[in-house]
Formats: sequence, structure tokens, C-alpha cells
Amino acid sequence: MPNAPTCNLGILVSGRGSNMLAVIRSIERGKIKGAKVRIVISDRRDARALEEAKKHGIEAVWIDPAGAPSRVEYEQKLLSALRKSGVTPERGLVLLAGFMRLLSPAFVDAFRGRMMNIHPSLLPSFPGLKAQEQALDYGVKASGCTVHFVVPEVDSGPIILQIAVKVVEGDTPELLSGRILRQEHRIYPLAVKLFVEGRLKIEGRKVVTARK
Ligand code: GRF
Repeated sequence: MPNAPTCNLGILVSGRGSNMLAVIRSIERGKIKGAKVRIVISDRRDARALEEAKKHGIEAVWIDPAGAPSRVEYEQKLLSALRKSGVTPERGLVLLAGFMRLLSPAFVDAFRGRMMNIHPSLLPSFPGLKAQEQALDYGVKASGCTVHFVVPEVDSGPIILQIAVKVVEGDTPELLSGRILRQEHRIYPLAVKLFVEGRLKIEGRKVVTARK
């Protein structure tokens, strides 16, 4: 039987890149088969993720938002870099991994069903920035993280995977963030694996996961 074509991944980052690394390592260790990270793109020159990606032999580029007069033109640059690396709406998967820019509906639509994000709360609770702080301020006893498909509305797309993390007495945003992050590193690679294996089906708001 001929091998299934490789799924080309493009990862958009702005900072440290620990989720990006979790995905890269899962591929390197053979836990995700049939996928390759083709490009990592940052909107910030100083993103640690760029250096980390290069250490793994992955093309890593800074695309400066200041070099594009408008969001549309900036996103054109993103699209063209992704395409050049084989990350297309037909063969690709785009991962947002701590990417701090809002994407336009046109960009999101281009990769509808082929773009994921990870968020450090149990969505739909606490979307947006500082989700862990929001959870602590609200007084919830459990928070967690969510991997979801990206839709134009922020942190609102169909949910692929979630995992709960207990809030404990004396928690600070840093402590809770650290415990949530460890779970992020488990579910983001797993969501990618399910996608690459063709096991995720979007049905309206829901994602149905096929058994192996
Ligand atoms: C993570 O907490 C993720 O949930 C959020 O941004 C953070 C990125 O961290 N979207 P890292 O760059 O992957 O280490």
C-alpha cells in the first residue's frame, strides 16, 4: 500500500515555544507519524521559539509586522511563507502556539478545519489573555487547557481535547500556569496526532473523534 502523504505543519509563535517543542519532540520520537514541521514563524524577532526550532533543524523565520502596512498585507506574507514550505490549505496544518496576534476571518477561513490553537483554560471559560489569572480571580476549583480548531471569533472554535487541572490552596498564576502547561504539552501533540491520523471530524460545534 502506498504511504499516506506527509502532513506539513506550520507553527506560529511569539514567545518561548514550549508547546511547539512538545509537538516537535513527539514527531522526532515517532509518537506522531506522517507529519513534519516545515516552518516556524514568529511575529517577534526575539522569540525563543525561533532558536529552539533551528536547533531541531527546522526553518524558523521572523516576519516583522512593522514591515507590512496593514494586517491584510502581513497575513499575505504569512500565507506565502507557509505555502512556500508546503503548508497549504490542502496538505497543511497550522498550529498557533502562543501566537499573540489576532488573525483576520479571511486568514482563518483559508485554513478552516486545518488550524488549531491551545488555550490555558477550560473553554468557554476564561477566553483571552491571562486565562490562569482570570480563573484564580473567579475562584474556580478546577481549570485546565483546551485545544480547539480556530474560527474567526477568539478562543471559540470546536473543541478537540481538554484536560482539567485542580486549583489548590495558595495557588498563584505562576504555579497554576506551570501545572496547566505540563498538561498542554500532553494534549497539543495528541490533538496533532489525531488530526494527522484523520480521526477528527468537525460536526457543527463539535469534534467527533474516531476510534482507531
Ligand atoms: C501557553 O500557555 C498557551 O496555552 C497560550 O500561550 C502559551 C504559550 O506558551 N496560548 P509556549 O510559548 O508554548 O511555551
